[in-house]
Amino acid sequence: METKVKLEHVSKIFGAKPKSVIPMIKQGMSKEEILKKTNHTVGVYDASLDIKKGEVFVIMGLSGSGKSTLIRCFNLLNKPTDGSIYIDDENIASFNSSQLKKVRQEKIAMVFQHFGLFSHRTILANVEYGLEIKNVSKEERRKIAMDNIESVGLKGYEDKYPDELSGGMQQRVGLARALANDPDILLMDEPFSALDPLIRREMQLELLDIQERLQKTIIFITHDVNEAFKLGDRVAVMKDGRIVQVGTPEEIIEEPANDYISEFIKDIDRSKVFQAEHVMIKPNALVSMKDGLNVAVKEMEENGISSVFVVDRGRHLKGIVTIDDAIKGIKEKKSLEDVLRNDVTIVKKDEYVNDLIPKALESMFPLAVVNEEEKVVGFILRVHVLSGLVSDDINESEEYHG
Ligand SMILES: Nc1ncnc2c1ncn2[C@@H]1O[C@H](COP(=O)(O)OP(=O)(O)O)[C@@H](O)[C@H]1O
Ligand SMILES: [Mg+2]
Repeated sequence: METKVKLEHVSKIFGAKPKSVIPMIKQGMSKEEILKKTNHTVGVYDASLDIKKGEVFVIMGLSGSGKSTLIRCFNLLNKPTDGSIYIDDENIASFNSSQLKKVRQEKIAMVFQHFGLFSHRTILANVEYGLEIKNVSKEERRKIAMDNIESVGLKGYEDKYPDELSGGMQQRVGLARALANDPDILLMDEPFSALDPLIRREMQLELLDIQERLQKTIIFITHDVNEAFKLGDRVAVMKDGRIVQVGTPEEIIEEPANDYISEFIKDIDRSKVFQAEHVMIKPNALVSMKDGLNVAVKEMEENGISSVFVVDRGRHLKGIVTIDDAIKGIKEKKSLEDVLRNDVTIVKKDEYVNDLIPKALESMFPLAVVNEEEKVVGFILRVHVLSGLVSDDINESEEYHG
């Protein structure tokens, strides 16, 4: 995948002589010691990141860990004390103010925690703001703004003022305003943290929806681990100004880099992170329609299983045959088709374990997992679903349906 944003050894120190502090950090002085000794605050130290085009990249950490300081480096609202920031292979840390203005107008938009709307402007005028600055004609910016207002579900509110709208709606305006500029990169600093839990969840889904349509590169900050893992393709965890781990939610849950992260993810609901493909077992045995009952029995015996999926040439599921039915069928000179059962529950490989639990509990047979092309790629037993919620080594389970 193409790199969109790249940070190399970015540090941001606050204080009178920020550069003088870097060697002290290198020597191993802590953020606290540096503050005491020099009255400088280490905002961010030595952050290197490689963010891919189209990715939702989440930065997570406790309050004060440096998340806002870092995200403000991406558009140089914070000028880094040290390091390089590449956007599309250009080091914007070395840009002059007019180059920078261009990048900010054309490539990056930001959404803030407290919405940052202009209270004296209507919703429409708020969303038009960035286009106005770019001297887009009145008709065109109206059209673009209205399209974006509609796409965040606020059609009909364009002539209202921000204080006439709820918090959730105001943040939709913030989002519409950012999107109206059609930026490649969307910076979002705890955009949903001020919202009620219900509205917050709604906004998270909406953001994923928008992302599916628009495929922006989104850098999203949160201190909420559930939000981070729900939204992030990858997540960077920050502590005391440093990035302490970068990985997919699954990677971080499976192998937290240190105790700080373990503590962070203690309360994570695994069932909302892990998907069918993470807990399924790849089938050792599949029987095809033309194989017949004898082959089916042999496959089940060799693999020590009591039922086996039957597929067509394209690995599409035709049904399942049990060992009892197969043996009885052979005695009665029936065909595979005669004893085939169709009551198999099929699930998609990206379904969340949370949603699989009731299906697994209800189903007599293993769940069949299919990919985008409806081909069978695995199966899931009740035990896999349940162990997926607690065990540390899912996917390595040797258990088999038998
Ligand atoms: N403008 C500033 N001047 C001095 N210190 C700052 C400034 N902005 C942030 N800091 C300090 O940098 C550290 C990181 O803050 P911040 O990036 O806001 O954390 P977060 O967003 O993770 O809560 C904190 O110790 C904070 O006090
Ligand atoms: Mg912050």
